[in-house]
Amino acid sequence: ATAGRSAPVIDTGAFFDCEVTQVRHYTGTLFSFRAARPQSLRFRAGEFVMIGLAGDGKPVLRAYSLAGPSWDDALEFYSIKVEDGALTSRLQHIRPGDRVLVGKKPTGTLVLDALLPGRRLFLLSTGTGVAPFASIVREPEVYARHEQVILTHTCCTSAELAYSRELAAGLKDDPLVGEAASEKLHYFASVTREDGPQTGRITDLIQSGLFFRHIGQPRFDPEHDRVMICGSLAMLEDLKAILEGLGFAEGSNARPGSFVVEKAFSETSR
Ligand code: A2P
Repeated sequence: ATAGRSAPVIDTGAFFDCEVTQVRHYTGTLFSFRAARPQSLRFRAGEFVMIGLAGDGKPVLRAYSLAGPSWDDALEFYSIKVEDGALTSRLQHIRPGDRVLVGKKPTGTLVLDALLPGRRLFLLSTGTGVAPFASIVREPEVYARHEQVILTHTCCTSAELAYSRELAAGLKDDPLVGEAASEKLHYFASVTREDGPQTGRITDLIQSGLFFRHIGQPRFDPEHDRVMICGSLAMLEDLKAILEGLGFAEGSNARPGSFVVEKAFSETSR
C-alpha cells in the first residue's frame, strides 16, 4: 500500500479492519453505514457479526446484523445511537474514510435454512430489529422459496420508519430481486406513539386481525406460514407466545421449524 493510505480491507488476524464508505443519518437516534467487504467474509442473509472500533486497548465489540444482501460487494449496518453507549457513542460519529473492525464469524438463527418450506414468510420487526430483514428481502433465494414475503416494521414514530420505508420503496428497482419483490413482497409499517396511517403494536394488530385485514390476507396458519421475529426482548416473548399458541414450532439451524427469533442487538443506555 502507498504510504499514508490504507487498503479498503486489512486482515488484522482477529478482525477485518474495513474502510467506511457511506454513512446515512435518519433521525437523531438512527443511522446506517456501509463498509468495504472482505472478499473472504461469507454470510447467509439474516446473520450477525461482531463490530467494533479500534482504539486504545481492547476494542468494545457489539453484535450487528448484516443488513445488506449476501451478494453485495459492500457491508451494510443499521444502528441506534446511544449517547453513553460503550460503542455507539463513538460509532455514531464515523465518516467515510474511517475504519471499523468486523468480526470473522457471521452467525445467527434468522436464516432461511432454519425454517421449513412454507408458502408465506412473515418478517416481523420493531426498531433496529428490521436490519436482518433488510438483508433477507434483497436475497433472490427468499422469493424462490416463498410465494409471499410480508415485511412488518413497527416503531414509536413515523420518522423511525425511514430506513424500512426506503428499503421497501427501492426494492422494485433492484436489479436482482426487483421483479420478484414487486410480485411477492408486502410491506406493512405501524407506529405506536403518534398517529400514522397504521397505529398499534404488531402483537395487538395480529390478535385483533387488523393486520391481516390490512394486507388483505388470511390469518396465520402454522402449516403453510413461516415467521421470523426480531425486536426487543418483550416483543419477542409476546410474539413467541402468540405463535406457539397457534401451533407454530420454533426452529434452529440444527432443526428447522415454523418460526425463528432473535433479539435486536441494540445497545441501550439502561
Ligand atoms: P410501544 O411504543 O407501545 O412500547 P423500542 O424502540 O423500545 O424497541 O420499541 C420499538 C417498538 O416496539 C415500539 O413501537 C414499541 O411499542 C414496540 N414494542 C415494545 N414492546 C413490545 C411488545 N412487547 N410487543 C410488541 N411491540 C412492542
